[in-house]
Amino acid sequence: MPKLPSLKIPDAVVPPPLRKPAKPGAGGVPNVDAPSDLKTSPPDRKTDGDRLLDQAKEAPVDVLAWVDTRMGGSGFLTGMLYRKVPKGTNWFYTLGSATLFAFIVQAVTGVFLAMFYTPSATQAYASISHINNEVPLGAFVHGMHKWGSSVMVILIFLHMGRTFFFGAYKYPRELNWVIGVVLLILTMTMAFTGYLLPFDQRSFWASIVGININGTGPVVGPYLSDFLRAGPELGATTLSRFYAIHMLLVPGAIIALIGAHMYLVVKLGTTAPPWVKAEKPKVAAPVAQLDAGVEGNGASPNGGPS
Ligand code: HEM
Repeated sequence: MPKLPSLKIPDAVVPPPLRKPAKPGAGGVPNVDAPSDLKTSPPDRKTDGDRLLDQAKEAPVDVLAWVDTRMGGSGFLTGMLYRKVPKGTNWFYTLGSATLFAFIVQAVTGVFLAMFYTPSATQAYASISHINNEVPLGAFVHGMHKWGSSVMVILIFLHMGRTFFFGAYKYPRELNWVIGVVLLILTMTMAFTGYLLPFDQRSFWASIVGININGTGPVVGPYLSDFLRAGPELGATTLSRFYAIHMLLVPGAIIALIGAHMYLVVKLGTTAPPWVKAEKPKVAAPVAQLDAGVEGNGASPNGGPS
């Protein structure tokens, strides 16, 4: 096959960063005349519309940069997203984030349910029927919230199991374990208080059983069940109390504790799986060996250069 002649592109039309460096002594870019069409054609000018479009495309970045200059969040985000994770990190480490995602789903669907739910002993059941039968997508959102609560409880137990079996509760992460235990109690409280809200036969009697179980606890048990029942019998006040706990008290505490939990995860890093062995640290050769004139790994017995 005949060889094709190689095309030589004149240096003057190659942008400076892409130009080949001149040979030593050649005196830089040769003074080559630009091709005639480049001399005559006007430079590429952008129309006003093009410029506006470019500005619109840059707007989100500009806004973020404006906020970041004042808040300095990018340092934190970079630190968090690019932090080192230990060797052997695997799918079990996603259970914490999955629990967090389940909580966010609960929070979002809960806000929409609260727009239609009436926390009154006489109207609660009717408002839930209204959500399920008349509100657009109401049954779907209610279903997500109801099943989501079980999903969150299952995920939180699996996540706790992962941290337990990987020994992540040990020093220096004990405080994060304790925060986790409180989060577990609060999550169970959410599931328990939410169960009463439809105020149907099942939720009414199940809550009586739950309150009585709490009453059997040592020392604080009877006080706790009295507090939950808010009176001698389960009734309208119990529903209001459960609603306040479910809507305001516990979610607020969970958000604050998740913040502390995440702060500690980022600060301390995650634990390596137990089957990953730590690398042996490089230590100086024993003093006796050095005294005997045997060369170690570059360290001298008195700390100076060997
Ligand atoms: C709302 C509930 C919870 C959320 C959203 C949550 C979230 C997370 C996330 C995202 C991580 C980092 C990734 C991972 O290791 O999975 C983590 C780590 C951790 N969590 Fe949780 N968690 C919750 C509940 C719990 C519970 C109930 C416990 C234990 C009783 C716990 C103990 C820990 C510990 C000790 C770590 C550090 C893990 C390590 O160093 O490897 N967490 N959590």
